[in-house]
Amino acid sequence: MHVLATVDELIDHLRYLGTIPSDETDAFAELDHGLQCAALLEAAASDDVELQVAGLIHDLAHPWDEPGMPRHALMGADAVRGLLGDRIAALIAGHVPAKRYLVTVDPAYRALLSSGSIETLAAQGGELTTLETAAFEANPDWRAIVALRRADDAAKVPDAAVPPLDHWLPGLCSLGG
Ligand SMILES: [Fe+2]
Repeated sequence: MHVLATVDELIDHLRYLGTIPSDETDAFAELDHGLQCAALLEAAASDDVELQVAGLIHDLAHPWDEPGMPRHALMGADAVRGLLGDRIAALIAGHVPAKRYLVTVDPAYRALLSSGSIETLAAQGGELTTLETAAFEANPDWRAIVALRRADDAAKVPDAAVPPLDHWLPGLCSLGG
């Protein structure tokens, strides 16, 4: 299991994500996708720094897994649970189930998915069953998980003007301190 035990290790890993292409496209780096996701969540949920940080790092495990495979959500959650706590870990872990949830309950959602995201849907389990849908909504934080997912799906714009990694360092230090 990969573990990022300190804020410095996490920041070093994020800087590494700035050197590799996003799973979606070579047009921007993996870190750029996280920065866009975090900026969208900062605008949508300005009082929820944990959600914003979860958006920043939700794909931190992409280098450790095949593109789009569901393991990356759990691997990322496991990597930072000890450092950033259970809620951020759960938000990261939830971004793949949230995609399955939205495909199930929102007919317009599938049309918004990128081609890469459609291709990985089957490997991620496809649509939820009725029982799985109810279980998802029984999570008291399910709306935040869905908010992260919608920001994730929107955070794929080349050359988007968003705050750089330095903007997030105080929040990372306070959450990880
Ligand atoms: Fe993502």
